[in-house]
Amino acid sequence: MKPQPKLNLLYSRQQIAETVDRLAAELNRDYPGKHPVLIGVLKGSFMFLADLIRLLDFTLEVDFVRLSSYGAGQKSSGKIRVVADLQRSVKDRDVLVVEDIVDTGLTTGFLLAHLRKQKPSSLKLCTLTEKPSRRKTPVAIDYLGFTVPDKFIVGYGLDWDERFRNLPGIYVLEE
Ligand code: IMP
Repeated sequence: MKPQPKLNLLYSRQQIAETVDRLAAELNRDYPGKHPVLIGVLKGSFMFLADLIRLLDFTLEVDFVRLSSYGAGQKSSGKIRVVADLQRSVKDRDVLVVEDIVDTGLTTGFLLAHLRKQKPSSLKLCTLTEKPSRRKTPVAIDYLGFTVPDKFIVGYGLDWDERFRNLPGIYVLEE
């Protein structure tokens, strides 16, 4: 077993709920009458996506992709591949990618390029968190929850070697 690392609260369950409410209001303003496909990026975005879509009042569909980027640690390999792709094509669809975190941007940048090849009618990005200080490739974020410091964060779907996804708040993992 790994030793128990120290976790410091960054955003409480309540702060996250308020931010998810705000993002849902922005989407409810922008998407009425559009019937978009929301694409959750597994595994980290499952909790955010589940909370977000309950607050959306327009017709929508949900699909998932799974990408490999990080190994069992905190360093990105930089090599990204699609491990599980969408069930249906998003050609001519309004697409909203729902991410847990944009860190270097390599994963999200790769996914957006992958989706763009299918010629969606629109392609937007909603991410709960981003670490702008670590960006290696530019990524346009249309809907942003929190800008986080350059620290490794866990909870609310985000993991450290598969642990801590279940925490209702977001925590900084202290080295
Ligand atoms: P990027 O390609 O560097 O933007 O990293 C994207 C992926 O790295 C995310 O989808 C997460 O799985 C993982 N990741 C990056 N930073 C963190 C973090 O602080 N906590 C947990 N996972 C992270």
